Amino acid sequence: MIVVAGATGALNGTTVEHLLKRVPAGQIGVSVRDIARARHFADRGVRVRQGSYEDPAALRHSFEGADQVLLVSSNDPHADAVSLHRVGIEAAVAAGVQRVLYTSHQGAGADSPFHPARDHAATERLLAGSGIAWTSLRNGFYAHSLGWLLGSWQETGVITAPADGPVSWTDRADAAEAAAVILAGDRAFDGPVTLTARQAVTFDEVAAMASQLSGHEITRIVVDDEQWIADKVAAGTPEAMARMTLTTFHAAREGRFAGVGPLLAELLGREPRSVADQLADNIAA
Ligand SMILES: NC(=O)c1ccc[n+]([C@@H]2O[C@H](COP(=O)([O-])OP(=O)(O)OC[C@H]3O[C@@H](n4cnc5c(N)ncnc54)[C@H](OP(=O)(O)O)[C@@H]3O)[C@@H](O)[C@H]2O)c1
Repeated sequence: MIVVAGATGALNGTTVEHLLKRVPAGQIGVSVRDIARARHFADRGVRVRQGSYEDPAALRHSFEGADQVLLVSSNDPHADAVSLHRVGIEAAVAAGVQRVLYTSHQGAGADSPFHPARDHAATERLLAGSGIAWTSLRNGFYAHSLGWLLGSWQETGVITAPADGPVSWTDRADAAEAAAVILAGDRAFDGPVTLTARQAVTFDEVAAMASQLSGHEITRIVVDDEQWIADKVAAGTPEAMARMTLTTFHAAREGRFAGVGPLLAELLGREPRSVADQLADNIAA
């Protein structure tokens, strides 16, 4: 059996949808905090059990009988994510799971300026010490985040952001589908694997693409870090959130999201969605 945690979330929920196309429903389980929100899976024959990183016993019960478990990374910026992930890994080991997969991030690194990257690195160290086989799915930066980072360029004709670096913006649904291919397949991936779109682009390049796609000149303006924080706070973003987002730019400047690889396309059997696809969606919306 394959058990997917966080299946009421966007990423792992999509992975379950793709698993259902590849594996009999009776061989799929989900571990979710609120079983009422997983009725659409139960109705199709998926085993639904309650599980939370805050409740080790329930989590272990939700992993019972699984050969493979896909753990979701915490989405709570205020939580001690690594401690939560430790509970997930320990529950999988206790349940006798043979392989744990985990939704990590491209650029996971203990020395990254981007805080979640440090949590992912620490979680990968826990996985490495768990004694069981593990796969860390280092997904590229979700391309839909671009909408927020680029701001209202369609109205203003301007992309105003701090200095950046190339990012291999990756479609979350593509990453989710690739996870299903790995879970359902017989090729073993050991340790970290990086799943990205084909191209890493800077905001200068995004502006050029946006100009071409929209038919209007879109200008990229580099704003000083502290000015950008002040502008975000004035617009209503909590300062802590703005500062956390700024570290994305710091990590991008260091090239931590710049790598691209062929594996995502190989797993999907098609080209992953590109930044241009994402921008075209934004324009159409
Ligand atoms: N690669 C990137 O660019 C990027 C960007 C943002 C986030 N991420 C990471 O990718 C993960 C998945 O993304 P997503 O878009 O699917 O996020 P999402 O829709 O917010 O889903 C997160 C899932 O994690 C579950 N969860 C959170 N805390 C939990 C806990 N303590 N115990 C058990 N389950 C818990 C949530 O449960 P409920 O459904 O009950 O709330 C939810 O199902 C995020 O959690 C985050 O770590 C990656």
